[in-house]
Amino acid sequence: MIKFDFSTYVDVFLDKKKYDDYMSKKEMIIEKLNYSDMTGWIEKPNPEVINEIKNTAEYIKKNYETLVVIGTGGSFLSSYSFNKIFTKYFNDDKFEVIYAGTSLSSRYLDELLIYLNNKNFCINVVSKSGTTLETMIAYKLIKDLLKRKYSQEELKKRIIITTDKEKGILREEANTYGYKSFIVPDDIGGRYSFITPSHLLPLAVNYDIDEIIAGYYHGKRLIDYAYQYAVTRRTLFDKKRYVENICIYEDSLSAFTEWIKQLFGESEGKNGTGILPMATTNTRDLHSLGQFIQDGNEIIFETFIKVEKSSNYINYNNRSIHEINNIVEDSVIKAHFIGHNPCLEIKIESLTPYNIATLMYFFQLSAAFSAYLFDVNPFDQPGVDIYKKEVKQSLER
Ligand code: PA5
Repeated sequence: MIKFDFSTYVDVFLDKKKYDDYMSKKEMIIEKLNYSDMTGWIEKPNPEVINEIKNTAEYIKKNYETLVVIGTGGSFLSSYSFNKIFTKYFNDDKFEVIYAGTSLSSRYLDELLIYLNNKNFCINVVSKSGTTLETMIAYKLIKDLLKRKYSQEELKKRIIITTDKEKGILREEANTYGYKSFIVPDDIGGRYSFITPSHLLPLAVNYDIDEIIAGYYHGKRLIDYAYQYAVTRRTLFDKKRYVENICIYEDSLSAFTEWIKQLFGESEGKNGTGILPMATTNTRDLHSLGQFIQDGNEIIFETFIKVEKSSNYINYNNRSIHEINNIVEDSVIKAHFIGHNPCLEIKIESLTPYNIATLMYFFQLSAAFSAYLFDVNPFDQPGVDIYKKEVKQSLER
């Protein structure tokens, strides 16, 4: 179960008239979303594709010890962040999934290639365009390692490509060499692609994807909250609250806040407008950015993601550590509110794959609404395209 409170520590900061005005646009904005041709993520995925994903995941688990997922941005963060939440801090016992292609750190790639050299692994390269530099470099290096060890026939079993249905180098390669492949649907952009093979395949080796899909579509019931969240953020922006700090008190959610940052940053940060998303992992950051947030420039509002129930085994002075963590979180909300910070709350009963998938749908929907409230297209990323073009030109010089 997930609960939302966008008013207790917020209302006094809002211009009620503006808030009502944005609220009155709800039908129009929902219609705008429904008319967009990038809303494939709202529809349920094809059951045949889901079966294919499950079979492939079974094959991977049976035949290899490691899956290397190569991708970046929207082709990386959903499954990576989801997986991080449920990975044990120490001695994790799940099937090993490693990510590559998110940076050009030569040290990381060096160490990865050395590590993989003695592993029985397969790869899943995920890129809708098939042109992303980091992804393609990591793919080539890791594929070369496979080539040095195995025949082309064996490569066919160890390379899985997830890309556009027709376009791009990766689709050509899948067709030419007969590699197993999955499609990123035309009507779903990278950061909205959680419910596609881009993320369901890497997750299927360790999770029940039926549960994930059910949780995700449970998010449809949260449409009113998703709109309210978008309107609250938009009204706060009008009061010069230009930065949203997503606060977590459970370290395993720190990659999830990276996912939220990408989703909102790329969806609404364009045409000279939008709210800058940032994240703090508490209690750690209370001892650093906590000072600024409590007492500094009043450009921030905060969204607290609270986990209500967690492991309750360890006690300190007759209280469980989790209870203390929650008491700290509630106290910080009060303190930051007194320090003139609007504080929004999202409370998850417990961290389960179902609840996290629900939250992913909620945030995707809200990011799309939010972008429309800023009068920008939620589904493009012209800024990212500019830097990609610049890099390409520089490399060709
Ligand atoms: O959300 C997006 O669209 C981007 O973050 C892309 O996912 C990212 O740039 C990677 O693109 P591609 O999947 O084409 O490699």
